[in-house]
Amino acid sequence: MQLLERKPPPGLVVPAGMVVPGSLPLLIETLACPGSPVAPEALASLCLKYFYAYVHSEQLDADVSLEGLTELAGQFVRRRGGCAQLAGKSELRRFLLHHGFALQMLVDLPKTVHLLAALLERKLPVAEAFLGLDIGAGTGILLVGQYLLARRAGYDSPILIGFECQPHVARRADSLASALGIGRVRQADATRKEAYVDLPDGPVACVTNETLPSAGRRLYKEPFPVICEALFAALGPRLANAVFLPEAVWASDRPGRSWLHLTPHNAFAGDGQRPDKPLRLAFMRDVELAGERIPVDRVGEGLAELVAPPWRESLCRRW
Ligand SMILES: C[S@@+](CC[C@H](N)C(=O)[O-])C[C@H]1O[C@@H](n2cnc3c(N)ncnc32)[C@H](O)[C@@H]1O
Repeated sequence: MQLLERKPPPGLVVPAGMVVPGSLPLLIETLACPGSPVAPEALASLCLKYFYAYVHSEQLDADVSLEGLTELAGQFVRRRGGCAQLAGKSELRRFLLHHGFALQMLVDLPKTVHLLAALLERKLPVAEAFLGLDIGAGTGILLVGQYLLARRAGYDSPILIGFECQPHVARRADSLASALGIGRVRQADATRKEAYVDLPDGPVACVTNETLPSAGRRLYKEPFPVICEALFAALGPRLANAVFLPEAVWASDRPGRSWLHLTPHNAFAGDGQRPDKPLRLAFMRDVELAGERIPVDRVGEGLAELVAPPWRESLCRRW
């Protein structure tokens, strides 16, 4: 067994001094203040503190040191083969294995921070209330993003609901989002219209939906097209003024000669595709974030510095 053990990457997971001091609830409250700055470092701190709280629920209010965050990151990246830091911690290791996919998305700091920053740039239509939906919620980090968006726009009590199909992930995300007073995460299959039947009334203000395949994979490899079909069939006109993340998606045929622009105006189904080329067979290419069209594998590219170099390969694996 010891032969399989490998050390975590050396040094601190992020540059020293980057993490904003204080507890997770305090940081959320600070970022929720209208007009407060949202530096990438603060959003990366949010992700790391949320990661820690997701795993160590009993330490929700702790101000975890960078060494503590680094230790957990090391345990996470070595969860499969094991490492000295996981010796005698079989329950923690099991947890990290079971929640590995959702956590892997969260700890890709450059990409997650890019998504959060793009979300926080959105201007919301004026409405009486804020109802936000996070499809494929995973750990619930984009629900946190929606909470900040709503609070920064003056909505004191947004109603936020996430949908996550993996029961254990939905349970944990729900308990964390509830404990933080952010919202709820339901265990639900978001490809089914029934998932949306008992939502609170009124227009939807925001939809985050990160259920996309990686660059160059066919769309059907992930449920994004089916989810959009069910979502728009169930909620149609209630989505008319919603802001979406991603704002739009670009897919193409294999050689990149014919392109589909999937936007809220066409229910993310594209316009005018040929019957012999169904949407699900198109290849994933680009997303639009904060008005910018970016190849999906280049999301977060300018934010690599948020992660210390030895840790980048193991942590940066969304898409
Ligand atoms: C790429 S992850 C994104 C997680 C999170 N939103 C984030 O950005 O970190 C996609 C999530 O969608 C969930 N998912 C996949 N298919 C789903 C479905 N049909 N209904 C609900 N959730 C689904 C997966 O279990 C996974 O947690």
